[in-house]
Amino acid sequence: MKDRVEVSAPGKLMLLGEHAVVYNRPCLVTAVGQRMHASVELIADGALTIDAPDVGVSGYTKLFTSDLGKGDIPRGARFIEMAVRNFNERHSLPAGVKVTTKSEFSSQFGFGSSSASTVCTVYALSEILGLELDKKELFDIAYKTVLDVQGAGSGFDVAAGIYGGTLYFLTGGQEIEPINIPSIPLVVGYSGIKADTVEIVNQVKEKAAKKPKLVENIYDNIADLVTKAKVSLQNRDWDELGVWMNHNQEHLDSLGVSSDKLDHMIEAARKAGAYGAKLSGAGVGDCMIALASEEKKVEIERAITKAEGQVINVETNVEGVRVD
Ligand code: MEV
Repeated sequence: MKDRVEVSAPGKLMLLGEHAVVYNRPCLVTAVGQRMHASVELIADGALTIDAPDVGVSGYTKLFTSDLGKGDIPRGARFIEMAVRNFNERHSLPAGVKVTTKSEFSSQFGFGSSSASTVCTVYALSEILGLELDKKELFDIAYKTVLDVQGAGSGFDVAAGIYGGTLYFLTGGQEIEPINIPSIPLVVGYSGIKADTVEIVNQVKEKAAKKPKLVENIYDNIADLVTKAKVSLQNRDWDELGVWMNHNQEHLDSLGVSSDKLDHMIEAARKAGAYGAKLSGAGVGDCMIALASEEKKVEIERAITKAEGQVINVETNVEGVRVD
């Protein structure tokens, strides 16, 4: 057993398949170079203490009683507290725990700061106890945490944090298949608007309740193109992958999760020569992604900036959670 461990986990970018993946369809996701860092230590006083200054939490403390994970928990502490509770329920912790996080990316981008801090917490605790849990066991605790806090979600984000690389992923981790590629030539533009994933997932759910056939059909079409895009990705056929991205964007538009700002940035990237472009994640805000050749990259970045997007340099396909 160790007293303290420093870990980090990558953020993520959804490549294709968002929303449909909540409803038993596959998606493609890549882990990005911007990481969440966590220092986790055992403390003597039988309490959980969280310092997560990037999301406005400092000196938050809760006793290790049956109340852990219940009551009024500050937004920025919810995932970590629930992760500690869920871990403790399976693998009794011998003492209290202090978790301190530091992010390399803004929680506004939609890179998955909550899922990355969940992954860091679960992995660090397993390292402290010397449990050597396999990736799927870590995933199950982290995914339960996401469901406990959010009520809905596919788990693709915690999978990216744990496994790293680029994954073909099926709802709830039914399939988690690493795709063997070195990197993906993406340009990423932040819309300046913070999207509330749970709210948008609920809006889509309401639409599905009103028009079940239409929405199921959209999900089936997305599943179909994700399966084809997986092969394009494996073959590094960027022309073809770009076509699937554009089709995926049309379906997301039909679901009602795009926005004028995102459309504007996506259109600008396509006009500047992107193979394809689409929103990434829940939609409405957060980021868009464009697939870009080396020659067109600068032009596409300029076009996104001109469309009032903020270009974020992103390394794709990076390593999953690790001890630093
Ligand atoms: C949000 O980044 C992606 C969604 O598909 C939700 C999820 O998969 O958990 C909308």
